[in-house]
Amino acid sequence: MPNPGFATTLAIFLAVVTATFLTYSEGAPRAFFVFGDSLVDNGNNNYLATTARADSPPYGVDYPTHRPTGRFSNGLNIPDLISEQLGAEPTLPYLDPALTGDKLLVGANFASAGIGILNDTGIQFVNILRIPNQLELFQQYQQRVSALIGAEQTQRLVNDALVLITLGGNDYVNNYFLTPVSARQIQYNIEEYSRFVITEYRKILTRLHDLGARRVLVTGTGPLGCVPAERALWSSNGECANELQQAATIYNPLLVQMITSLNQEIGSDIFVAVNAMEMQNDFITNPKDYGFVTSKIACCGQGPYNGIGLCTTASSLCPNRDEYAFWDSFHPSEKANKIIVKTIFTGSDKYMTPMNLSTIMAIDSV
Ligand SMILES: *[C@@H]1O[C@H](CO)[C@@H](O)[C@H](O)[C@H]1NC(C)=O
Ligand SMILES: *[C@@H]1O[C@H](CO)[C@@H](O)[C@H](O)[C@H]1NC(C)=O
Repeated sequence: MPNPGFATTLAIFLAVVTATFLTYSEGAPRAFFVFGDSLVDNGNNNYLATTARADSPPYGVDYPTHRPTGRFSNGLNIPDLISEQLGAEPTLPYLDPALTGDKLLVGANFASAGIGILNDTGIQFVNILRIPNQLELFQQYQQRVSALIGAEQTQRLVNDALVLITLGGNDYVNNYFLTPVSARQIQYNIEEYSRFVITEYRKILTRLHDLGARRVLVTGTGPLGCVPAERALWSSNGECANELQQAATIYNPLLVQMITSLNQEIGSDIFVAVNAMEMQNDFITNPKDYGFVTSKIACCGQGPYNGIGLCTTASSLCPNRDEYAFWDSFHPSEKANKIIVKTIFTGSDKYMTPMNLSTIMAIDSV
């Protein structure tokens, strides 16, 4: 009969050996977690039954593999470029079956195209990971990592991590302004709606803090009315669409106020506001200064400004993506993403409140 004592000893020995192989090491780049919508989704929707997807050509045409990945970009997206700066591999989508073992220690991307701050945003996309769902999966992630490296190290990994959350644009383009008269428009004027959305966002950020996040980049919306889709839809002369621009002008300062007040309440600069509106206004207003031939027309699409419908193999596709600020009717090109990420790292307080990511990295490394 085998000795039960020996079996137990062996089991403990194996557990210890496994634990020493998978540890959270001091020298490794900090973990990175991503939450939000299509601006930061890097493939979760590939695993879901939804029309909000970027898994067919020409998406990914300039990605290292030249194949679509689910990123809403011709190449790299904002999270990829942040990972690069952190000296880390890109995070895998949380739903990717390859996200196991030590890959989990790099972090994870929970973002899902089509979602918003509100649960009723993007209902037309049916089966997507809404934000309460993304946060639940973050909890599940922590349980999985705990099983690998223990609860204490997992908490340290999460507390030391950088987090990016990109939400809000869809609450306007895929909710309030989706139809000429929407349920939310009947309920609220744009000012009231924006305050409501911000109140809900505050709850989401509080939950993220409760789940252990301690450094969180929170992006505001871009100039919503200036994306090719909205120029095509609302504007007769190609100018930015008025009502959406007004919405962004109301929403973004409210977001900064909310973040400032939340940091005060917590007593620490946990949340960092990224002024995506200012960042994009720069190259939308002066595209030539940034090497773009246009900021009005999408590289891939059809109709006025290439702003109608989806980017598919049947669309017109520009030969040089770096010359376009917008890749498709809603999403910046890789080149524009690079400008945005550079500003996140090095921008002045016009762009980053209360500080840029270089400063954060310097503070957090001591
Ligand atoms: C959104 O849904 C979650 C549960 O799925 C719920 O807890 C939350 O209260 C909802 N938010 C709003 C604003 O209704
Ligand atoms: C980051 O922000 C600080 C403070 O606003 C500024 O002094 C610095 O030049 C910015 N850039 C870098 C790379 O730190």
